[in-house]
Amino acid sequence: MTEIDWVGIDWMDRAVAQTQGLYPYVPGKPVEQLLREKGLSHAVKLASNENAYGPSPKAMLAMQEAVSEVHRYPDGDCTELKSALAARHDVKTNQIIIGNGSNEVLELVIRCFAGAGDEVVYSQCGFIVYALATQAAGAMQVAVPDTADLGHDLQAMAAAVSDKTKVVCIANPNNPTGTLLNNDELQSFLDALPRQIVVILDEAYDEFVSDIKEDSLCVLKHPGLVVSRTFSKAYGLAGCRVGYAIADADLLNAVNRFREPFNVNNFAQVAALAALDDGEWVMDKVAKVKVERARLEAALDDLGVLGGQSYANFVLLKHAKAGDILNRLEDQGIIPRPLAGYGLKDYLRVSVGTAEENDVFLQGLNVVLKQVKA
Ligand SMILES: Cc1ncc(COP(=O)(O)O)c(C=O)c1O
Repeated sequence: MTEIDWVGIDWMDRAVAQTQGLYPYVPGKPVEQLLREKGLSHAVKLASNENAYGPSPKAMLAMQEAVSEVHRYPDGDCTELKSALAARHDVKTNQIIIGNGSNEVLELVIRCFAGAGDEVVYSQCGFIVYALATQAAGAMQVAVPDTADLGHDLQAMAAAVSDKTKVVCIANPNNPTGTLLNNDELQSFLDALPRQIVVILDEAYDEFVSDIKEDSLCVLKHPGLVVSRTFSKAYGLAGCRVGYAIADADLLNAVNRFREPFNVNNFAQVAALAALDDGEWVMDKVAKVKVERARLEAALDDLGVLGGQSYANFVLLKHAKAGDILNRLEDQGIIPRPLAGYGLKDYLRVSVGTAEENDVFLQGLNVVLKQVKA
């Protein structure tokens, strides 16, 4: 590089001014990092709520076939995927926005509707990205304390809405607490809100509850309702980064102005399309996750460390020495997710793995619980 006169240029000063109090998302610890840190040869990652069974074979084939076209830009409008999703949800294609993960869609919606002087309301133990996206948009965060059982306190959230509130975010089921709101509760909440407020109903884990709750898209009514879903969880495509939201066409027309031109890569588009078409595979894996979730929760309950019932693809462990348990599990090559960042320092979130991975976790936990008692 050529010599540059750096006098008077301090990136950190500028960054600090722009990003007061802004912290990057902290993901689950990567396997490779733990192996390096602990000198281990094998680890089980149960920290990111991925689908432990891998992607659908149809999705893998579609991605392989797409390799030879990688010199082309992807379809910027995700035409085929939108058509398939429109048919699936019985909506028009202009009522769908597709993102680089549903995370991108959440950020775009918040950035579009909330800025300096506006407020975004969400629950304190709601998915952390709502707080980060709100900060990044320069809007005010209004984090409402949860109910005692770590659910959304909808009454308190409604009371927290002011004339500055532009967006409300709800994850259902919620990550990291796994709690579920039913459609009646949600509709009463929506009815109490001013009609111009945008409500993000984040249903990243919807497939894990869909048999006990009617599809919210068929039931809930609110002009600014944005229902987001993802291919990262039940569909096993977390690494592709593809998610979407369904909302009013005019609302999405506004959001689309913030979207970068080719935000969803071609592998993600073809994989999502193929995975959508492999309904049997998804149903089978969701069923397996539910069986394993029940087994894990029963085992945690027997051990006296169950942190609550979860409706998603993870379970909650509660123990006064959760931090100690985390370190000791990591020593054994098991990676759960600490929740201290959510103010839940006594909790660990454990993604449902394969039956074998869950066995490893439970055996490790049994050992660790004896150690922390001693
Ligand atoms: C509640 C919730 N919403 C959204 C996301 C984002 O998922 P993705 O960007 O992979 O679609 C996650 C990821 O963990 C989540 O837990």
